[in-house]
Amino acid sequence: MYSEKTLNRFRKPKFSGEMKKADAVGEVGNFKCGDIMRIYLKVKNNIITDIKFKTYGCVAAIASTDMICELIKGKTIDEANKLTSKEVVKKLGDMPAVKIHCSVLGLNALKEAIGNYKKKHKKN
Ligand code: FES
Repeated sequence: MYSEKTLNRFRKPKFSGEMKKADAVGEVGNFKCGDIMRIYLKVKNNIITDIKFKTYGCVAAIASTDMICELIKGKTIDEANKLTSKEVVKKLGDMPAVKIHCSVLGLNALKEAIGNYKKKHKKN
């Protein structure tokens, strides 16, 4: 059902955990299953220098969010905002169609965190 890459990410996520003094946090719920995803960002000079996630989600949600974190660490806020679920799923070596909605949970939390960061740093 899941690719080996997905299962490895799920077993040993590199970015799982909480972050103290994050510059931005994004939290979303999955309306289909009720799971929750929270993403923490550290940003310096518009670049994401660190990222962590915390979730009550499933294998697909954990693996895809861990992949998202790896793909955007070191990228600018705007580059990270352009990441698509298609790119994430491709990097994981595909995902069962019924789990695609789980794979967007991390992406939605990321977009929420970026939106919050931009609001906080909006120049008046
Ligand atoms: Fe809830 Fe996958 S079943 S995130």
